[in-house]
Amino acid sequence: MLKKLAVAAACALTLTSYAAVAQESTLVIKLSHVVADDTPKGQGALMFQRLVDERLEGKVRVEVYPNSSLYGDANELEALRNNEVQMLAPSLAKFDQYTKQLQVFDLPFMFDDLEAVNRFQKRAKGRQLLRSMEDQNIVGLAYWHNGMKQMSATKALRLPDDAAGLKFRIQNSKVLDAQFAQLGATAVKMPFAEVYKGLQSGQVQGAENPWSNLYSQRLHEVQPFITETNHGVLDYMLISNARFWYGIPHQIRTELEAIIDEVTYAVNRQAEEANLADRRRIEASGKSQIITLTPEQRQAWREAMRPVWQQFEGEIGSDVIKAAQVVNRKRHD
Ligand code: LMR
Repeated sequence: MLKKLAVAAACALTLTSYAAVAQESTLVIKLSHVVADDTPKGQGALMFQRLVDERLEGKVRVEVYPNSSLYGDANELEALRNNEVQMLAPSLAKFDQYTKQLQVFDLPFMFDDLEAVNRFQKRAKGRQLLRSMEDQNIVGLAYWHNGMKQMSATKALRLPDDAAGLKFRIQNSKVLDAQFAQLGATAVKMPFAEVYKGLQSGQVQGAENPWSNLYSQRLHEVQPFITETNHGVLDYMLISNARFWYGIPHQIRTELEAIIDEVTYAVNRQAEEANLADRRRIEASGKSQIITLTPEQRQAWREAMRPVWQQFEGEIGSDVIKAAQVVNRKRHD
């Protein structure tokens, strides 16, 4: 009898403490990224944090770690898969270890502009790619825009041959490696946090970045020439650890998804303007000369880089490439 009572008391205690934990425990989401706060992604992360704070206070808390302060390019995806961090928004160029299909975003001159990128991301194939890494415990929650990439260097780049012999910093992407090989240049993979130093020390002479990354990392101060090539896109996938994400109680997850939709809309509406504002700031700084290309010069870059498409068509899938191609309004042969 005594034993039974003791067991019952122990059970009651356990249940109370479980309930107490359930009531008190706040779900913590660590969101880590590699750029500055004052960028489209940095602003998106802070808006997500603020809306969660306002609407899910006590239930969920978001901690934002910008500027590679928690994890950087070298380890953030593994940290996410191990649930050491619960959300990231890596550039689409950084997933080729987990899925080959996303490499479509790195193909040079694949998309005419950010509008075209947007159309692709919204269509069935684009949405499908958000789920392409679930078998690796990575779930895609949304696409966030940054912008089109510009090519910068220590010398003026007007035609593809001007890049020959130079070393360019690239993100961890085989497609980008192949793109620079087509120009007779050397690509050097380097984490984002090291780019300024790499350019300043002369380890690399060039890079490709959207205006917001050029300006917020002060890269224009160590790159006297920036050519407005718009040759590729740098966008993000907001991701979470799949087991963590699907383990969140349904009602809270639904609220988080609604917040993500709202933040995504704001980020994607403001990204282009933010990039144009940074372009103006770079121009006004007088530290870097912005070179605009004639249509003929731009066509020469397109033709020089185009063989990369054939190189990666097998891995990416011709269906994905076709789906991306048709979102462009202009026709390119
Ligand atoms: C880069 O490494 O150049 C970018 O992916 C950084 C970023 O997140 O915008």
